[in-house]
Amino acid sequence: MTARVFVTHQLPGERIHELARFCDLNVWMGPGLLPAATLRAEAAACQGLICLLTDRIDRQLLDAAPGLRFVSSMSVGVDHVDVAALTARGIPLGHTPGVLVDTTADTAFALLMAAARRLGEADRFVRQGKWAADTAWAPDFFTGKDVGGATLGIVGLGAIGQAMARRAAGFGMRVLAWNRTPRAVPGVELLSLDEVLAHSDFVSVHVALTEQTRQLLDARRIALMKPGAVLVNTARGGIVDECALAAALADGHLFAAGIDVYEQEPVAADNPLLGLPNVVLAPHIGSATLHTRALMADMAADNALAALRGAPMPCCVNPSVYAPGGAREPG
Ligand code: GLV
Repeated sequence: MTARVFVTHQLPGERIHELARFCDLNVWMGPGLLPAATLRAEAAACQGLICLLTDRIDRQLLDAAPGLRFVSSMSVGVDHVDVAALTARGIPLGHTPGVLVDTTADTAFALLMAAARRLGEADRFVRQGKWAADTAWAPDFFTGKDVGGATLGIVGLGAIGQAMARRAAGFGMRVLAWNRTPRAVPGVELLSLDEVLAHSDFVSVHVALTEQTRQLLDARRIALMKPGAVLVNTARGGIVDECALAAALADGHLFAAGIDVYEQEPVAADNPLLGLPNVVLAPHIGSATLHTRALMADMAADNALAALRGAPMPCCVNPSVYAPGGAREPG
């Protein structure tokens, strides 16, 4: 029997066309994001699923999809998937690490620069016609923070954290970092998390969201940050206590923030960060370049192709399913 594979969004890249030759491929054509009820109905009838980080793959969905043999997510983060539930069912989960490292670090550094130099505020000021004779150039006009020579603290020294460290080196920054398992990276000083926060002018978050990292930057840790520091988050919103961050930005403890990810996405209208002038906001676009998104889609298709052949996925989050008695064959 030809395996049925459901793709939750139209994908860029080339490999998705190849995939169509090996299965009965059904792609959600929108408009908009796939509703959860439609995902459940489609998953119930398919052997393979290619999803995005906006699709929640939980126990309920898996219970409704007894024929499901693999899941391939076009994302590096997999906090939208109940990995333990997939593993218990012998279902491999693919993801797309590596190809988005530099693109995401570029976004983090762009947010760092924009927050330091108040580019969001400055853009709104010019656009809104406020740049008038009585608010023209002056010595203290839109003054920000210097990036060159400052100290960057990296929370999570994985591939994206290390790419951030390389960018910081180019700006003559001192680089401190905390990683759950200590890892030696040239030019980077490893410290405890609290020390990194206390000594950094800029802090950039690069850990995955797990039960261990949820609210890692809570009110106590945000209070530990150096007065006048800048926080950048391109990892996941759930890692930072958004209310505590907003309070620290509003009362002047922190200078600014650059935020790409939110506890709830799309961001809730009453998110306290939205009303603050000193936050540069982006709508979860860390890996959003045409080239990188095509590479991610190709990786997601390659993981699915391997699963259809009954081979291990090249980038599998839960390779233990390939131990004897692990993964189930599609079909
Ligand atoms: C983006 O956030 C990803 O996980 O790929």
